[in-house]
Amino acid sequence: MMTVLAIPGSLRRASYNRALLRAAKDLAPPQMSVVVYEELGSIPLFDEDVEAETGGGPESVRRLRDRIEAADGLLISTPEYNHSVPGVLKNAIDWLSRPAPREVLAGKCVAIIGASGGPWGTRLAQSALRQILYATECIALPRPALFIRTAGALFDETGQLTDATTRERLASLVAAFGAWMVRLG
Ligand code: FNR
Repeated sequence: MMTVLAIPGSLRRASYNRALLRAAKDLAPPQMSVVVYEELGSIPLFDEDVEAETGGGPESVRRLRDRIEAADGLLISTPEYNHSVPGVLKNAIDWLSRPAPREVLAGKCVAIIGASGGPWGTRLAQSALRQILYATECIALPRPALFIRTAGALFDETGQLTDATTRERLASLVAAFGAWMVRLG
């Protein structure tokens, strides 16, 4: 069984990106378990003094590190804020990128997706996230890409992904991610 930790880059209760990852969990192939990380809001602002005083970060950061270490891969769904990734997501990555006590992102397989309510579908945010992850030495799935635009029309009021084409594309991406991770060993 392959495990994927799915991280939404939004704290919003009705986040499209979290809803997209919940759909990915349902659409994942049988040999893949997708678990959505729901605790991004517990990660404090990165502070190098706190990092030094706590030996790598407080409990919430330690827990996230453990979960990333235990996962075979990460699936990150990012909103786009001002043509880039939301600060909460970048902040978490900054904690995780540090070599001590464990550099959990280096060599980790990661797939990037994203949803926005507007017409551009997080192209710039995903591109920025790819660049950030390059610095952490993650290995990012090159393709397929999934840029979800006008998200309001694709989910129902309970957050279910109802658009059939988007469901198919998401299922294909998750399956391709799994196959790619197997190939990488
Ligand atoms: C946005 N939004 C946005 N959308 C976009 O396509 N390009 C952008 O540059 C921005 N910038 C931006 C800045 C800020 C501060 C906010 C709050 C929003 C819209 C954003 O993508 C949209 O609200 C998404 O629905 C947010 O993702 P979640 O919370 O639904 O996952």
